[in-house]
Amino acid sequence: MAACSFRRSIASQLSKVLDLPPENLIKSISAVPVSKKRHVADFQLSIASVTEDSSSESIAQDLHLQAQKLAERLKCDAVVSEISTGPGTVNFTINRELLAKTVLQQVLKDGSEYGVKSELFSTVPRQKAVIEFSSPNIAKKFHIGHLRSTIIGNFIANLKVALGHEVIRMNYLGDWGMQFGLLGVGFQCFGNKEKLKSSPLQHLFEVYVQINKEADDENVKKLAKDFFRKLEEHDEQTLSLWKQFRDFSIEEYIRIYKRLGVHFDEYSGESFYQEKSQEVLKMLEDKGLLQKTVYELVIPFIGVVYLTSQVHFKCNIDETYLHIGSGLQLLLCFLLTYRKGTGVVDLSEKKDLSLFSTVMRSDGTSLYITRDLAAAIDRMNKHSCDTMIYVTDKSQSNHFQHLFQILKLMGYDWAERCRHVSFGLVQGMKTRRGEVVFLEDVLNEVRSRMLQNMASAKTTKEIEDPIETAEKVGLAALIIQDFRGLLSSDYQFSWDRALQSRGDTGVFLQYTHARLHSLEQMHGNEQLTDINVACLQEPNAISVLQHLLRYDEVLYQSSQDLQPKHIVSYLLTLSHLAAVAHKTLPVKGSAPKVAQARCCLFQAARSVLANGMKLLGITPVTQM
Ligand code: ARG
Repeated sequence: MAACSFRRSIASQLSKVLDLPPENLIKSISAVPVSKKRHVADFQLSIASVTEDSSSESIAQDLHLQAQKLAERLKCDAVVSEISTGPGTVNFTINRELLAKTVLQQVLKDGSEYGVKSELFSTVPRQKAVIEFSSPNIAKKFHIGHLRSTIIGNFIANLKVALGHEVIRMNYLGDWGMQFGLLGVGFQCFGNKEKLKSSPLQHLFEVYVQINKEADDENVKKLAKDFFRKLEEHDEQTLSLWKQFRDFSIEEYIRIYKRLGVHFDEYSGESFYQEKSQEVLKMLEDKGLLQKTVYELVIPFIGVVYLTSQVHFKCNIDETYLHIGSGLQLLLCFLLTYRKGTGVVDLSEKKDLSLFSTVMRSDGTSLYITRDLAAAIDRMNKHSCDTMIYVTDKSQSNHFQHLFQILKLMGYDWAERCRHVSFGLVQGMKTRRGEVVFLEDVLNEVRSRMLQNMASAKTTKEIEDPIETAEKVGLAALIIQDFRGLLSSDYQFSWDRALQSRGDTGVFLQYTHARLHSLEQMHGNEQLTDINVACLQEPNAISVLQHLLRYDEVLYQSSQDLQPKHIVSYLLTLSHLAAVAHKTLPVKGSAPKVAQARCCLFQAARSVLANGMKLLGITPVTQM
């Protein structure tokens, strides 16, 4: 019987008494979180979730009474050995031996599928999802936001795949735009083909920084413009140079992503959507959604703009637009960058242009959002997916809101199934060499710091490949630090906090995994049949079993809100419980039956720990 079948068994009894289908009750029955202070039951039914009337004042008292009444009508059976009530809950304790036997068998039999086969997921339809994440810009900094996007996107993809969904992992590179004009000129001045081949990311970045210093020079400006124009006209030589920038960069990214344990099914990018974004503009025009600024009056430092009878004024900073004012018929201001012919889509409810999105420059060229519109339509055509997920920091929330809104206005109902998973900012990530510029800097830094910690730790054994181990443990540290809180929260990065060996860190998870693994190695993989479950009745053993019961619920929670923190705190608790159990329930020196049963318990704990870590994007180590 699976852990969820305990739920089913309880639901079936409840269903008779409450006259509700058992399916409706399954999700109201949850495993009780383990408490350090007191013994707890295994499952509980929250009365509020099965009663309709929750309006009365004396609600708490009422619920308690109802719980008691319900409990009186229920009977213990072969599965449930005790029924009690708490504030608003009916609590169920499972037959102790059955609990141990069932949980251990299930965990060890299902292996990496433990939890995902649960009935909690049986009604969830299998879906196809395109998940876009990481998406760095060529020749620009790979900042911490890109790292967050990479590990969060990877986690979401891992989770979805584990739950049986089909996933396309997509990287949408910033590989187009005026900066390539500048980069092209820069490369012609300071570029080196050898360096481009051997370390493209570093070299292109350096070239870009160097030419940027001269970006105000009229001649450089003109050359950059020419280069980009040639690129847009698909001039063979220009395009071939650009393609080398892109291809070599991707090659290097693939190598670095591999260190992170991340891969992509598709490398897309803004460059794919130059022409298609023109088609999008045409579609917007045909549907009557594209509005253009119609009149412009420029007095030195004073501008007046009419936007289809309404007046709007915007400051144009690169491609970021700051909305200054709206709804007025006339606006005077000292700076005018808004040009006649700029194309916008009205997103306001009243259609008064109090909210709009700019989709076309005055010269008819596309913008970031236009390319995203084209990309979204293309992805949907190509993959006919159920959902599209975009993972970026929260500064792009408006952008994605506008994107989905415009798609909806264009008649694409699937826009409602698109989702922007946004995350907060990280402050203070610096390496010893200074500010982080490349992803590889972070990986090298965490590895070297971890190596140092390992070398000075007394507990570190002789390990076969310390560098590889340091890398995996270091990555676990980064990921856990990042995933502990709500994704939308900002946080202050600290190497020391992340790399602490005790406390709630990735290092602690890895350490626990390695310890449990070596325990297994020492005592051999125990036969799972004939475990004497009567030997697993100590409170510390029961706590581990009870915690293992909850794994499916935690997966379910994370699958709903796409927050990794549920899994993180689950795994940290599992590690703490396992550590306590390991200390108080020795394997070595115990009677064979007891040793065998405990071994099984620890094996199960290690298995679930490893499963959870892998979902988060961590490779569990076996030594450290
Ligand atoms: N390259 C962009 C940046 O670095 C992120 C792209 C996000 N994805 C998208 N479809 N717009 O900010």
